[in-house]
Amino acid sequence: MNMQQKNRVFYPSPAIPLAPVLSEKSIKFSSKSREVNSILSNSQQIHVTSGRAGIALALEHAGIAEKDEVLIPAYHCESMISPVLWRTATPVFYQINADTSINDDNILSKITSSTKAIIVTHYFGRIQDLCKVKELCKEKSIVLIEDCAHAFFGSKGGVPVGTIGDYAIASSMKFFPCFDGGVLASSKHSLNAINLESQPISLQLKSFFNIVERAINYGRFGFLGKLLKAILKVKELAWNSIKHLRKSSGSTAISPSSSEGGYGLDQNWIHKNTSTPSLMTIKKSDYKRIISKRRANYEKLYTALVGLENAHPLFNTLNEECVPLVFPLFVNTPEKAFDTLKCQGIPIWRFGEFLDDQINQEVCPNSMRLSAHVFQFPCHQELTSQELDWMIEKIIHAIK
Ligand SMILES: Cc1ncc(COP(=O)(O)O)c(C=O)c1O
Repeated sequence: MNMQQKNRVFYPSPAIPLAPVLSEKSIKFSSKSREVNSILSNSQQIHVTSGRAGIALALEHAGIAEKDEVLIPAYHCESMISPVLWRTATPVFYQINADTSINDDNILSKITSSTKAIIVTHYFGRIQDLCKVKELCKEKSIVLIEDCAHAFFGSKGGVPVGTIGDYAIASSMKFFPCFDGGVLASSKHSLNAINLESQPISLQLKSFFNIVERAINYGRFGFLGKLLKAILKVKELAWNSIKHLRKSSGSTAISPSSSEGGYGLDQNWIHKNTSTPSLMTIKKSDYKRIISKRRANYEKLYTALVGLENAHPLFNTLNEECVPLVFPLFVNTPEKAFDTLKCQGIPIWRFGEFLDDQINQEVCPNSMRLSAHVFQFPCHQELTSQELDWMIEKIIHAIK
């Protein structure tokens, strides 16, 4: 944990959902609704507990170990680093440009004989140009890992996201109304040798209840939801006593920290499958709806916020092949606005808010700038138009 994290401030829970919650429209049984470009276009894929577990398994599968160096973008979150440390390898940071694209020259300058893997992140759903880094990796026998935690869907030049590198990982919780979930995929290496265990029954139940509970708490499912809320109150009482008993007996955490908003990597959750309730929502979701809704919500946010005096959208265009994770807004004087918005229950996400202690102005000025100034607002498929309007009004007011 770095110093910044120790000083982390706790805000009220978001008044509208930060990530997708289950609704009547989330699920579609027709497989046609899932014929789209995504990380699942890879020939091999396994569903794990989180994106960080996906990175850990990719590194393990590639044989990354002690004394190896893994290149990581300086604009990162801790959950991208913890898998490298779990392999006892060394993270080495490379620069990114002001628009979040990778700096190929800087990557080249960081490569040594110990460099064994490079992780490239498709920030906020915008897909990186991997031509040069792919060539470099091929030439120097370096493993390329595409981090699609922000880009489950999409393509570049018709090529599905996550199919260029040796491995790709995704964070399913960011795109689907599930409790846990990540993907490790590859079209270059067989993943058959990776053995994953099933989740314990306690986690399966927790996953199911969490999916339903989150939906109800955010007012989805109308009257039925209210009825279920009463039933779930009873479950909560039972759950709290189980948690209490486990705590006093020193048992391992009942769910991965990735599902509870934490950044750590718990070894107990690396070699496990996605829970069945989460996997069902991932496999039966309406992918075409996810894509069109996210794009439409992004456009709505863009139109409403493009003219602000003290802020501007990080990206000027939404490429037709991209499926955004969030709407990133560059805010000139971020601190006060961040506080005001968070206190009002606006679900802001500030990627890279807590950069590794090694990152400073010299290592990567763009990462420092982006980490301090870029707020990400949700544009996911389950936001209602009233929720979007409410959020837009608050943003305009706070950033004026
Ligand atoms: C770019 C990036 N990569 C990897 C991860 C790890 O994903 P997860 O939280 O599913 O472990 C995250 C998490 O936010 C992320 O933003």
